[in-house]
Amino acid sequence: MDWFLWMMCLAMCGVVSGAKFEDLYQPSWATDHVVYEGDVIGLRLDNFSGAGFESKSKYMFGKVSIQIKLVEGDSAGTVTAFYMSSDGPNHNEFDFEFLGNTTGEPYLLQTNIYVNGVGNREQRLDLWFDPTTDFHTYSILWNQRIVVFMVDETPIRVHKNLEDKGIPFAKDQAMGVYSSIWNADDWATQGGLVKTDWSHAPFVASYKGFVIDACECPTSNDLSKCSNDKRFWWDEPTLSELSLHQSHQLVWVRANHMVYDYCFDATRFPVTPLECQHHRHL
Ligand SMILES: *[C@@H]1O[C@H](CO)[C@@H](O)[C@H](O)[C@H]1NC(C)=O
Ligand SMILES: *[C@@H]1O[C@H](CO)[C@@H](O)[C@H](O)[C@H]1NC(C)=O
Repeated sequence: MDWFLWMMCLAMCGVVSGAKFEDLYQPSWATDHVVYEGDVIGLRLDNFSGAGFESKSKYMFGKVSIQIKLVEGDSAGTVTAFYMSSDGPNHNEFDFEFLGNTTGEPYLLQTNIYVNGVGNREQRLDLWFDPTTDFHTYSILWNQRIVVFMVDETPIRVHKNLEDKGIPFAKDQAMGVYSSIWNADDWATQGGLVKTDWSHAPFVASYKGFVIDACECPTSNDLSKCSNDKRFWWDEPTLSELSLHQSHQLVWVRANHMVYDYCFDATRFPVTPLECQHHRHL
């Protein structure tokens, strides 16, 4: 596509992409705990406050990525989240939640999915690297068929559209993109046993590489534009499921790094949730 057509499409297709924090995001709370250091944005947690930022617009379908370097050293009790969410009581939400730990002990990455206001779909993994020593890319690919959570482009979780099995899927509400850090020492670290040590504050999570390549949907009038249109790259049939290589990566992640999957928690769910029965072969 030549440059002119591409610019027309950017304007008319509603696809937004960007690299500068302020093009895409704004602080959402505790502005004084949002720190700007060149291209890197820091969110600070201390005994007064956590902090957060949010996208300026809302989106339906596409891919959202961010690079995060998590709190170094003692991060016990802290949770850093990166997520997409719609508004309202029947909201949809796709979550990455990074649960801190004492110095030298591994972070856990918890993911969760809410559809029509119902969550309780937690999975937890440890990572194959230390997420506090460098930036790593966390992304969510969302189209009409699938939601894929990725870490450095390796899929760690797939949530399929199983509407043909009577299971609702998130596909009719635009979502904002959010990140925040807060104190969750009642549950986050080793089940809440380890509390936040405030003498180690401030706890800072750092961000860069802001990319939102998604269909912009600021008002509900725009929903049909984002859902009816087959012009978008994420609607390619090949992206309606993982590639063979990605499937192998996911099998590897699940075998080597998954520490919890709600699908196998018979205490919480004596009856296996229906979607788990269909996701199980993954
Ligand atoms: C923290 O470290 C302990 C000990 O290695 C581990 O059991 C736990 O899963 C880690 N993560 C969290 C968030 O508690
Ligand atoms: C916050 O922590 C600092 C350093 O430990 C301490 O001096 C201060 O009194 C604390 N403030 C509050 C409101 O707890």
